[in-house]
Formats: sequence, structure tokens, C-alpha cells
Amino acid sequence: MDRIYVEDLPAHEGETVTISGWLYNKRSSGKIRFPVLRDGTGYLQGVMVKGNVGDDVFARFDELTQETSMSLTGRIRKEPRAPGGYEMDVTDLRIIHISNDYPITPKEHGIDFLMDRRHLWLRSSRTHAILRIRHQVIRAIREFFDSRGFVLFDAPIFTPAACEGTSTLFETDYFDLGKAYLTQSGQLYGEAGAMAFGKVYVFGPTFRAEKSKTRRHLTEFWMVEPEVAFNDLDDNMDLAEAFLEHVVQSVLAHRRADLETLGRKTAMLENVRRPFPRITYDEAVEILKKKGIEFQWGNDLGGTDETTVSAEFDRPVMVHRYPAEVKAFYMKRDPKNPKLALAVDVLAPEGYGEIIGGSQREDDLGALLERIKEQNLPREAFEWYIDLRRYGSVPHSGFGLGVERTVSWICGLEHLREAIPFPRMIYRLTP
Ligand code: 4AD
Ligand code: MG
Repeated sequence: MDRIYVEDLPAHEGETVTISGWLYNKRSSGKIRFPVLRDGTGYLQGVMVKGNVGDDVFARFDELTQETSMSLTGRIRKEPRAPGGYEMDVTDLRIIHISNDYPITPKEHGIDFLMDRRHLWLRSSRTHAILRIRHQVIRAIREFFDSRGFVLFDAPIFTPAACEGTSTLFETDYFDLGKAYLTQSGQLYGEAGAMAFGKVYVFGPTFRAEKSKTRRHLTEFWMVEPEVAFNDLDDNMDLAEAFLEHVVQSVLAHRRADLETLGRKTAMLENVRRPFPRITYDEAVEILKKKGIEFQWGNDLGGTDETTVSAEFDRPVMVHRYPAEVKAFYMKRDPKNPKLALAVDVLAPEGYGEIIGGSQREDDLGALLERIKEQNLPREAFEWYIDLRRYGSVPHSGFGLGVERTVSWICGLEHLREAIPFPRMIYRLTP
């Protein structure tokens, strides 16, 4: 099959080709008609001059409605003023299916109207740019780990227990075995993978029954989670900054036109270069106090706290050593101060907050058993995980990066619901 797409047109200048797609727009001027077609790779303006095409073909232009599927045949000509830089002198226009009353018109629509029609809204140039950038982010993520010898390690989605606290678990009946929970994170399985392969990455959908209606929360989101045997917290931060640099620079290198479509200013993205500043939680609290914000040591940083802290820096900032109380059971305590966990969060600039959360893991059997007891977790469900501390336990670390938060930040979106084709939120399950 040698179908030609709009993005291939530079290689077909001067040739007569057929392009299939959907009507994006049309206008006319005197004896000239301009159908604009989109095919998913770009936009092509056709030029039809009365007398140069058959009367029946010329008349078909009047039938074209927004999103009518069709094909245009004609000679490709360079035209710097046209979107995409090429135009077609149309000799034939074939209608495949007339679209009647397409609901999304060029006028302004509210976000709920658009989200209810997300299956159609996907066709807009804005959604298009965002989801292409998402693809590049995912490609860059895989590239980074694949080229460094990490093994892709798929974790299950039905799990017997919580990884990230019991308050955001989705529960379902599981035959005769009682309850199953949708995974909140593949990390615990990733740790088993790291003990088998040395370095792995888990990459898949994760679920949180988030009751919060913020612009940073989905109930279903994609997370990539590297896990590396023998890495301590510093190694983990080295990996996180090299990784994030690669992802952002890869989008800048390959999807600049899409960033332009979104009107995204890229100065802060260009800055995403190693080394990132590293500050302790204590230092973050100092920043908040200096800014006159009331903050109780021991609390987790909230969204606005994160924005305030990150505003001090010109690139992502890594905040490490949080109070153990607010962090997950699997995090290792700081040997120098057991009140602290060897955790790290990476905060994105421009108010986008935490995009990476990670830690060094508790590798000592006794300490891990204590944590499980303290947090009242069902030990039986964790026996397999505890085994990893019985048979050749080693220091190890990893982190998780949320794909939608990252895309949302890179694209400069107001809400991460636009960063995934079909968002799932507390108040949205359709389409
Ligand atoms: O900080 P979190 O909860 O960390 C973990 O799940 C660890 N087990 C990861 C690991 O160490 N392997 O989540 C990690 C990231 C967050 O920084 C954020 O980017 C994203 O996942 N995230 C969400 N994204 C969208 N909607 C939500 N409700 C999210 N919750 C977390
Ligand atoms: Mg977190």
C-alpha cells in the first residue's frame, strides 16, 4: 500500500497524487474554490478553478460540510503562504461520506460540551498537537531506558494489596479469592524485577480512587517506574534528572511545531538540563517560611506549597528527605535521622508541581516488617514482597513519573484531562 499523506508532500512536488481525509474548512473567492482537507498528518489546501475541473466535480464543492470524508486528486505545488507549505491544483474531488451537522463548530464551546464529545474533539488541531507530544514523551521514555539496558517489566493490574495507601484503592470482586484491587503503582513488582534483572522499568496504566477534583488528578493515568538494584538515593536522583532531561529535550527536538500550535513558550523547557537543584524537605520548609507561608514541619507539601518552592528555581527541583510519616511504608529511613524517609519528589516549574515521586527502598527485613505492622497492612498479601528481603537483599531505588502530568507541563495545559485521549476522573467515565 503506497498511500500518500499530507506530511509526505514535500517528496511529491510536481506530481499528481490523491490524498484522502476529512474536510476541515472551505472558502471561495470568485471562480475559485478552496477545500482544506486534514488527514491526521497535516492540512492541505486544494485549489479548484471553474473551467479547469469538470462542472460535476466543481459542483461537488458545495456539498462539502465540516468533517465530510473525501479525497482530492491533483498536482502538488509549493506555496509558502499555505498551511504546510504546499497546495494542490485539484482535478478530481470524490466524496466518501457526507457529515451532517458536525457538533463541534469553529465557535467557542465549553469544556464539558467538548469533553462529552471527546471522541470527535480528538480531531481538532489542539488535541492533535497535545496527543502527538504525548506520543513523543512515551517514545522518549522507552528510548531512554531501552538504550541503557533496562528490561521492560510489565506488572499486573489486578493486585491483592495496596502500594500507595488504602484511601485511593479501587476494589473489585475476584471470583472465590475475595477482593482484588486495581494497581496504584507497579513498583513492588518492579522491585522483584530489579532483583532478577538488575534494572527494569514498569510502564502501564495505574489507578487511584482520587476524591480530589484538582487539575492534577486523574483516576486512571500512565506511570513509568524504573527500579535499580544497588542504587542509593543519590544514584536515584542522578537517574531522574538524566531521564527528565532526555524526555523534555526530545520533545523540543521533534515536536516544536506542535508546541507552537499550542502557543507554548519554550524558554523554561530549554532550561531542563542537568544538574537540577537538590534541596532537602527542611530547606523547602525554610523557603515557605521566608515567603511568609504558614507551614507545619511534618506535613506533606500541598500543591500551592510546591508551586511556591519551585518558583525559586529556573528548572525542575528535586526535594529529598521528607518526614517518613507522610510517605509510603516501603521507603527506607535516613540512617542519620530516622524521622526522615530517603524519598525524592521532582517538582516541575511553572506551577505544575510533583511529576516524579521516588525513594530508596527499605531493604532490611526487620525494618520492613515493622513498617508493615505500623501501617496495619495485611502481611499475608505482602509475603512475596517480604521474601525479596530474605534472599540476597540489596540497597535499591526507583521512582515513578506520571505521563499526563509531564505532558500537561510540557504543553502548558491548564488541566491534565487534555493530556490523555479519554480522561477518567471522579465525575467523568464517558465517552
Ligand atoms: O508519588 P507517587 O504516588 O509514587 C508512586 O506511586 C511510587 N510507587 C512510584 C515509584 O517509586 N515507583 O506517584 C508517582 C507519580 C506522581 O509524581 C505523579 O506524576 C503521578 O505519578 N500521579 C498522578 N498522575 C495523575 N493523576 C493522579 N491521581 C496521580 N497520582 C500520582
Ligand atoms: Mg508522590
